Amino acid sequence: MTDHFTALYDLAKASAAMAYAPYSKFQVGAALATADGTLFNGCNVENGSYSLGLCAERNAITTAVAAGVKPGDIDCLVIFIDRPELFSPCGGCRQVMSEFMTPTARVSATNGNGLRKDWTMAELLPDGFQLPD
Ligand code: THU
Repeated sequence: MTDHFTALYDLAKASAAMAYAPYSKFQVGAALATADGTLFNGCNVENGSYSLGLCAERNAITTAVAAGVKPGDIDCLVIFIDRPELFSPCGGCRQVMSEFMTPTARVSATNGNGLRKDWTMAELLPDGFQLPD
């Protein structure tokens, strides 16, 4: 994370500015790095049919998968929101992250005030659902 944190923070922040969040006004950006150092980003995209809204984390992950990223390839993911408080990723995003991140991969929540909270994937989703082999 140390290697990529600044680049991921900048990319997540720029992505948050692109969020389409006219209903919640909660503009979220996410950026991730794969083991080979490739970066991907996403923002939340809401819809007038509310349940169709997409979270920033899932947008970044699905973009990465469309470029060839496989389960276990994602090393770290940074979330940004320009609000005074931090938030932690929703349960649905944790489940999707756990499909592509190993238990030791890192996730950070950040904001524009310099606050930062770090977790491992295992801390964010202990005992997550996994299909049996
Ligand atoms: N949101 C995210 O993008 N990521 C999360 O982890 C939680 C929530 C978005 C969804 C919705 O567009 C807005 O934030 C308010 O819930």
